[in-house]
This record gives sequence, C-alpha cells and structure tokens, in this order.
Amino acid sequence: MTIHIGANPGEIAETVLLPGDPLRAKWAAETFLHEARLVNEVRGMLGYTGLWRGNRVTIHGSGMGMASLSIYANELIRDYGAKTLIRIGSCGAMQAQVGIRDVILAMTATTLSTPSKGIFRELNFAPHADWSLLRDAAIAAEKRGVPTHVGGIYSSDVFYDERPDLNEIMTRHGILGVEMEAAELYNLALRHKVRALAVLTVSDHLLTGDALPAHQRQSSFGDMVEIALEAAFANA
Ligand code: HPA
Repeated sequence: MTIHIGANPGEIAETVLLPGDPLRAKWAAETFLHEARLVNEVRGMLGYTGLWRGNRVTIHGSGMGMASLSIYANELIRDYGAKTLIRIGSCGAMQAQVGIRDVILAMTATTLSTPSKGIFRELNFAPHADWSLLRDAAIAAEKRGVPTHVGGIYSSDVFYDERPDLNEIMTRHGILGVEMEAAELYNLALRHKVRALAVLTVSDHLLTGDALPAHQRQSSFGDMVEIALEAAFANA
C-alpha cells in the first residue's frame, strides 16, 4: 500500500492504462478485461487489474490535471513497478484538420509549467512519448480505421483558461490539441526509464466550438482503450 493506492504488492500490473475519470477505469476494466478485480478505491480513485488476451493490465484513474496524475504515476512507477503507462483521455482540438472523435497520439507535450518545474527550473525540457508505443499505437489505430493524428499537444494546468492568446500561438505552431496530464506523465516516465504514451480522443474543438455529444463518448473511448492495449502488447 502507498499513501494514495490501497493495492497490495503484486496487485498492480506492469502495464497501466490511466484514464482521468475513475468511473471510466471501471467501465474499461469491466468491458475489456477478463477477471477484472478492484485493487484500489482510496479517495474513490478506482483501479482494476485483469487480463487482456492473457496479458495482465491495470486500469487506474489519474484524476484531472498534472498535480493529480503525478501522485498516481509516481506511486505506480516507484512503489508498484509499473513499466508501461498509457494515458487514455480526451482533448480539445486546436487544428482545422483535426475532427471531433479523431484520435491524437501525443509525440510531445508543450506546457507553461509542470510539477517537474522545480527540477527543470530554467530548462525548457521537451517531454516526449516512448517511440515504440507511439509507433505501435499508430499501427493499431490505422488497422482499426480510426482517423488519427500524430504530433505535439499542449498540457495545460487550467481548463478555464484566462489566456486565450496562448491557444492562438499553439495553433500557429502546429499543436494538435489541449489536455491537462500528458506532459508530466512523460516527464516521470523519462526520469524513471519506463514507457509512456498519451492516446487522446477529441471531445471538443476550440476553433469551431463543436463538442462530442455525451452518447457518443463511450464508443470513442472504447476505440482508444483498444488502441492503447494493442500498443502496450504489440510485442507480447
Ligand atoms: N482544455 C483542456 N482540457 C481538455 C479540453 C480543453 O478544451 N477538452 C478536453 N480536455
């Protein structure tokens, strides 16, 4: 057990999928895993471990924002030995060619700040995804016929942004979408020499104001879970 995770040693798999929403973790575990078992419910942050095509997987909520994700990712990596961590979540599109429901594979994540700022200080570190996961997720997405974009995203500390001018700068520099967790996941993975990737579904569009209707969110989320699982075990 750790401060925030009640699982016993050995109850967390080496491969962990991290949706922001703990109820999404429950739905994904019940939908895609065999023999899924609840291994954490501290503070309602649900985590399940089960089997996918015979491979052990944990699906655990990260909460919203890098401060929350940092707590769970640190404990999963340092105390439970997680080796492959894949964020599955939503993002807002920042390019005209990116559509609602499209998938974005985040090659790198730009930020104003992360919980790692205390370490990096004046350094503009470029947190990036694990190449093999990125490649295998792109292959899995193409096989499924899901419109997919690979490139940079923006990990913001705030959902209610008081600096809309930054969005224009991001769009001008080719940033595909905005979310709130990937950059710190990548920082931690690189620091601890484990693999990480963010697989994101576009839930809203910052340029058009379009948004994914609630009833379509589940099926888009399902595509993302399967892309993440196929990437995680591409060489298993
Ligand atoms: N901003 C930040 N995070 C998000 C957004 C957004 O517009 N959409 C989905 N996650």
